[in-house]
Amino acid sequence: MQRIVILTGAGVSAESGLGTFRDVGGLWSRYDLEDVATPGGFARNPRLVHGFYNARRANMRAAEPNPAHAALARLLAAHPGQVTLVTQNIDDLHERAGASPVIHMHGELARALCGACGARWDAPDAMVPEDACPACGAAATRPDVVWFGEIPYHMERIGAALTACDLFVAIGTSGAVYPAAGFVAEAAGHGAETLEINLEPSDTAAAFDRHLHGPASRIVPEWVATLLR
Ligand code: OAD
Repeated sequence: MQRIVILTGAGVSAESGLGTFRDVGGLWSRYDLEDVATPGGFARNPRLVHGFYNARRANMRAAEPNPAHAALARLLAAHPGQVTLVTQNIDDLHERAGASPVIHMHGELARALCGACGARWDAPDAMVPEDACPACGAAATRPDVVWFGEIPYHMERIGAALTACDLFVAIGTSGAVYPAAGFVAEAAGHGAETLEINLEPSDTAAAFDRHLHGPASRIVPEWVATLLR
């Protein structure tokens, strides 16, 4: 029975109306990553950073999962082998499509984290720097997301799945950010077949054995149907 690891990126949520980062007009052409996605940026201006993630959270809550999310949820439920779904996305559209479990390596917009004691809780719609941690009372709350310069979550669990999988599939990710961009080489190095599903060849396209190009909402359901046939 085939063991599959799937890595998703912003492209899987693009057709739900959530912006990607590096496409034309993407988030990183409109915001300075140093200001809103680094620990230093948060230390300099926590109100600006909370405002950025509050807006992302509002977009997420207004968005609906698309057929790509739904197809991946079907695959997780119906594939007779093991399927590990890892996402770089901080939105909750995989979960809202019914996928479980989902490994959020870059954290989750729906969660808050105390920078003082490490407590985590469900994020309110809008966070402000004055919010007190419900566990220790410190006004050090932040979105539970991984910023540049921080270590992504669940790396041990992901590494174990990558070394043991038969098939690695990257969907809707540009391959610009490590360590996720290195997953294809890690899986291939352990003998896995590799497949890229993306609108166009990504930065790491040459590292994949096979490619399916087109919108995730069309290509992913087709690929899942083939696999489950
Ligand atoms: P990017 O914005 O870098 O890449 C999105 C990819 O999705 C591109 O290769 C697009 O061609 C592709 N794409 C766009 N629309 C698509 C569609 N409808 N169907 C299929 N593919 C589509 O986003 P990520 O690779 O997810 O990290 O970015 C990785 C990380 O960089 C993010 O998690 C975030 C960001 O900075 C942090 O903030 C730590």
